[in-house]
Amino acid sequence: MFTVNKVGLVTSHLHTMKAGDIMGVRGPLGNWYPWGIMEGKNIVIIGGGFAFTTLRSSIIYMLDPDNRTRFKDIHVIYGARTPGMLLYRDELAQWEKRDDINMHITVDATDDPDWKYNIGFVPTITDQKAPPGDAETYAIICGPPIMIKFTQPVLDKLGYAHDHIIMSLEMRMKCGIGICGRCNIGKEYVCKDGPVFTLDQLNNMPKEYYDPILILWQLKKVL
Ligand code: FES
Repeated sequence: MFTVNKVGLVTSHLHTMKAGDIMGVRGPLGNWYPWGIMEGKNIVIIGGGFAFTTLRSSIIYMLDPDNRTRFKDIHVIYGARTPGMLLYRDELAQWEKRDDINMHITVDATDDPDWKYNIGFVPTITDQKAPPGDAETYAIICGPPIMIKFTQPVLDKLGYAHDHIIMSLEMRMKCGIGICGRCNIGKEYVCKDGPVFTLDQLNNMPKEYYDPILILWQLKKVL
């Protein structure tokens, strides 16, 4: 299943396609979440905005009847700017009803009197709802850089070791196979060596991924 945000030429065209039309897809590319080392552990999923697409696949994977016993407690912290910007609302509602996953949905703001979930930014809700970090717990984060920038200190405060914080980076990509040099952070290619890195690994890279100003510079370099 693909989730396509209509933002440019290619994605606008994809939105005009009909059932039965043919499109080509290259892949799989890059690495993946380290499910092997996370087996038997508590998993905290933290996501914001459209980046939740990636995390949704991971939640579906963990909740699959063949896989659910391979993981301990699952927490999901998912934020969007407004209720209308939450993705996969049908699935969120289903997961809310289950007792083998702890859902913490939040929005930055709403004037909807019927809103029954959290109001607050993802780092704040993480501080309030995430379990403490220990050797048995991994956090998986995907979202806008600004969300990650402010969530990381919260995880530090909660005691998460940096090799237990797993991030999926978003960068503009062209070739997807480590040739064109569009996506690199230092010597690492997000398309080939990532997009999944532990915070430990990211700490050894230039900080451009975290700094919005440097990110804009990076985008300008690409465009
Ligand atoms: S997209 Fe070309 S090197 Fe990564």
